[in-house]
Amino acid sequence: MSFRKVAIDGPAGAGKSTISRAVAEELGYVYIDTGAMYRACALKMLRKEIDISGDVNSVIKAMNSTEIEIAHGENGQIVYLDGEDVTGKIRTAEVSKGASDIAKIPEVRLKLVDIQRALAQKCNCIMDGRDIGTYVLPDADVKIFLTASVEERAKRRYAELVEKGVKTTPEEVLSDMKKRDANDSGREFAPLKQAEDSVLVDTTGNTLEKSVELLKDIIIKNLNEI
Ligand code: CDP
Repeated sequence: MSFRKVAIDGPAGAGKSTISRAVAEELGYVYIDTGAMYRACALKMLRKEIDISGDVNSVIKAMNSTEIEIAHGENGQIVYLDGEDVTGKIRTAEVSKGASDIAKIPEVRLKLVDIQRALAQKCNCIMDGRDIGTYVLPDADVKIFLTASVEERAKRRYAELVEKGVKTTPEEVLSDMKKRDANDSGREFAPLKQAEDSVLVDTTGNTLEKSVELLKDIIIKNLNEI
């Protein structure tokens, strides 16, 4: 049996995870957040005090003995790093930066892409990331590129962080986001870019509810046309 695959790509803070999770729930699809896998790998390197951008050899060596697993619980996706549930530990600014740096290393990407493709073989899924439509699932049934202005994405991310009690400033979040955008779009291997056969959705100025409805309509319409 072959399963349906929906690929959602875009920069940080475009609303990919919140929107994908909500739409997946409505359609009865499994939501797969690939960013969490890069984050878990970055967490491992930070814990081992490996300099991610300066010491690529040590990163690759540590990756050889790294196990990343994904499960789906009542509250959504659970990420296991070497058997430990790290779902709640990968959302810090330090891990965000580390994930963007580790994501430049082809050996890391190839290992995670294998896991992502294997997951997509087993269920109807909505997978979000940066390279899903272009590299991980080039034959996805529906591809969406979700974006918004960098100022709005930073504003949303700042509000999220404040709600979580993280101490930061709007300026710091905007500057981190611009750096991450440049890093993600500028890397050589599987950079963030819109797939030619994807639908571009700009969520600037939309409420979350409006974006969820819009995406749901696009996905259902495209799935029905297959
Ligand atoms: O949630 P947010 O959009 O801030 O980031 P994320 O989706 O959790 O991804 C964290 C980092 O992992 C990104 O900045 C990318 O560098 C990297 N990533 C990637 O390279 N490819 C993917 N398929 C997913 C994430």
